Amino acid sequence: MTKGNFSRREFLEMSAAAAGGSVAARSVLLSPQPLDTSARPAAPSDTIRFGMVGIGMQGSGLLGTSITIPGVECAAAADLYDGRHTLAREIVRPGLPVTRRYRELLDNKDIDCIVAAVPDHWHRQVVIDAVSAGKDIYCEKPMSHSAADGVAMVDAAKKSGRIVQIGSQRVSSQICAKAKEIVSQGMLGDLMLVEGSMGRNDPNGAWQYPPPFDLSPQNLDWDTWQGNVPKRPFNPLVFARWRCWKEYGTGVAGDLLVHLISGMMVMLGINEAPKQASAVGGIRHWKDGRNMPDVHAVLYYYGDLPVYMRLNLATEMPETYRIQGSKGLLEVGEFGLSFTPQLGIDTSPSYYTGSFPRAMREEYERKWHQENDAKLAKAAVQESISFRMPDYDDIRPHLTTYFDAVRSRKPVVEDVVFGHHAALACHMANESYFRGGSVKWDEATKTIKG
Ligand SMILES: NC(=O)c1ccc[n+]([C@@H]2O[C@H](COP(=O)([O-])OP(=O)(O)OC[C@H]3O[C@@H](n4cnc5c(N)ncnc54)[C@H](O)[C@@H]3O)[C@@H](O)[C@H]2O)c1
Repeated sequence: MTKGNFSRREFLEMSAAAAGGSVAARSVLLSPQPLDTSARPAAPSDTIRFGMVGIGMQGSGLLGTSITIPGVECAAAADLYDGRHTLAREIVRPGLPVTRRYRELLDNKDIDCIVAAVPDHWHRQVVIDAVSAGKDIYCEKPMSHSAADGVAMVDAAKKSGRIVQIGSQRVSSQICAKAKEIVSQGMLGDLMLVEGSMGRNDPNGAWQYPPPFDLSPQNLDWDTWQGNVPKRPFNPLVFARWRCWKEYGTGVAGDLLVHLISGMMVMLGINEAPKQASAVGGIRHWKDGRNMPDVHAVLYYYGDLPVYMRLNLATEMPETYRIQGSKGLLEVGEFGLSFTPQLGIDTSPSYYTGSFPRAMREEYERKWHQENDAKLAKAAVQESISFRMPDYDDIRPHLTTYFDAVRSRKPVVEDVVFGHHAALACHMANESYFRGGSVKWDEATKTIKG
């Protein structure tokens, strides 16, 4: 096995071994392959100048990472809260042009593209305004705040021909890429069921973020921040903890489930909305006035494939998938994956024959061994495969893919259609929870139906 190079041929060899295999198992440890192309120097004429919209928790990280990618520069930043202008200048440079009005960035001919990390209820407007102004845009996940928003965003992006990349960085994960290789080579046999889960158990994980101390209607344009949502008096908790309310956020579905869904779509090569969703959940622990559930479990049909996703904000659990197939189990975690092949055939006489009278049982066992022992002895050794990653940041390659696409005009994987499909799974999970019954995606009317 070539270290750091898990080639197609090697996968096929393992697959062949697994298909005929006996019971012994061997572990193959692989080290990561660098996928990040950002070390490549860019000519000055190739420099991409982006405008940053939203410099909050996620936006500040995107901004800090983007400016370390060769050939990428931040030209200006927009945020409705002046404290974040200070932060943007701390991250980029003291003289960085800053504004409360993101449209000024869209009108600026020196800006090639936008990176946006605003709350979910602002995604539709920012994306539609950006592509309509001729700018490419990286917009954070979940792509949309509602199914209707997603439909409008797909239309606008397609009409404009601009590049839209959505920020579910699992799509650029090396672990998901390895899992995709395993699945696409048929090593799992028939796909039976996909499970995914993720859990947290602390106030920060449940979005109880501390608002900035100085926040006031003087340094924040609170009216604009609220967008089209029915207006409330100024409330710093809503500003910092908007995920708790459906008026602004999309709950655990849009915050966490979207990552599981996007990763699954990549691994299984799916690019469609689920056919059906049935959710259960509740506000079981964080009774702080929120209206979105802190426990949310959803059963989907993707075509005829059952998919079961579970999110919990009051029990810590690692982010995990269990992709179950007739030829084995693929377990995918944050720092690696393991594939355990399964023969799917009997390796010993049936225990049912314990119910036979002795002579019949002995006759059955004699015949069984006669027919199977030689075959089993010949079977190759099965290999279980482990792939482990050191601590790894998916965001940098995800941003690099975007800036490369802005330069090359080559399409991205997580485009507006992919982002829409992933977000629809989240909206269906929420709709099912609030309606208390199954929902379906109706492609003809482009709506979620009960
Ligand atoms: N990919 C990930 O792993 C990941 C992680 C965290 C957040 N996110 C996503 O990033 C987005 C932002 O989340 P966050 O936690 O950074 O939120 P945040 O509240 O910390 O920051 C959002 C910022 O956007 C600004 N803003 C709001 N409306 C604006 C407008 N119209 N014009 C200019 N600025 C505006 C706010 O003032 C605020 O500073 C969300 O969609 C969230 O789901 C993604």
